[in-house]
Amino acid sequence: MLEVLPQLPADPILGLSAAFKQDTNPNKVDLGVGVYKDELGRTPILGSVAKAQKILLANEDSKVYIAPQGVPGFISGMLELLLGKSHRTLLENRVAAVQAPGGCGALRILAELLKRTGGNPTVWVSDPTWANHIPLIGSAGLKIETYPYFNKEQASINFDAMVACLEKVNKGDVVLLHGCCHNPTGADLTKEQWHKVLELAQQREFLPFLDIAYQGFGDGLEEDVYGLRLLADNLPEVIIAASCSKNFGLYRERVGLAALIGANSQVKNALQTQIQSVARGIYSMPPSYGGALVDIILNSSDLNAQWQAEVTEMRERMQTLRRLLATKVKEQGVSRDFDFITQQKGMFSYLCISPEQVQKMRSEFGIYFVDSSRVNVAGINTENVGYVAKALAAVL
Ligand code: LMR
Repeated sequence: MLEVLPQLPADPILGLSAAFKQDTNPNKVDLGVGVYKDELGRTPILGSVAKAQKILLANEDSKVYIAPQGVPGFISGMLELLLGKSHRTLLENRVAAVQAPGGCGALRILAELLKRTGGNPTVWVSDPTWANHIPLIGSAGLKIETYPYFNKEQASINFDAMVACLEKVNKGDVVLLHGCCHNPTGADLTKEQWHKVLELAQQREFLPFLDIAYQGFGDGLEEDVYGLRLLADNLPEVIIAASCSKNFGLYRERVGLAALIGANSQVKNALQTQIQSVARGIYSMPPSYGGALVDIILNSSDLNAQWQAEVTEMRERMQTLRRLLATKVKEQGVSRDFDFITQQKGMFSYLCISPEQVQKMRSEFGIYFVDSSRVNVAGINTENVGYVAKALAAVL
């Protein structure tokens, strides 16, 4: 029976790492999977995380199951990080939440929960969106449609087209929005545009589904949740999937948060049971380790301050690399303006070149990034930036 299952092609993002490893080009550059790298190309354990690990090791006295909703201090710390201390939805006891196995786990359990509503909502995702959104949400059996988001020719958000599409979304549909650092384009909504999204959500009565995987990598920890808080302040219902992979560097620990803001505390209480029951039906309860580390960091003023400084350092490094890449491309005499790279936010930039040109960068220069032309800015360093710019000029 099992032989009926065919072999599948490599994952469009994760497959790049395997291909990169096999490449024997001594100049090869990995700008594929979205992981932060330092100047030496390493993804180090953050200093705050290393200290939290020591504290955890010294104090952990059991490996018994944790509560189905996860580590309590993790959940409260993350909700405060996302929504702000004493946010009214927290004071009004309107937020149900569980610790999830990564941002992916959060997306999936929220999708399963939406399916349970029985309303069979369509989930609208940006065009383009992170490649894994479609399988994660689609596997729950939800219908997915796209709304226009990015204009490749102009390398900017096509907001008029986005608005025109969202004006037709049905009541009860779900609109997936990237809280910050849009993956794959790096093009984020302005404050004014978030206000327009709020107005549309109120008019059309759609449910915003915020995916926030890069808080702190755009403009700052507070600045990056402007849209999320605006919607949470003004709408009866919002759902949130957050990841700690990037801003805590806890990629392999798989730690994220799935949260649902309900209209009142009664709804919240029901949602809490529902979301725990969804998780119980898939993986029972979350792993403890990553959540325990985030709990220690967020709830210790010293470690929290150290972590915030580390997030700032990562953000500023990526901003510097953006400017460096744009300058180096200009120095190559490329007529096309690549300054948009400096405007984009977070870990990714969309170079707006064709899949053929992306392939050429890979086969002729050993520079690996996603076919859509998404590059991981953090994979650039002062040593390889000139080579990347030269290759880009050559394929153009
Ligand atoms: C990415 O977008 O590269 C990361 O979020 C890693 C992944 O799972 O795709």
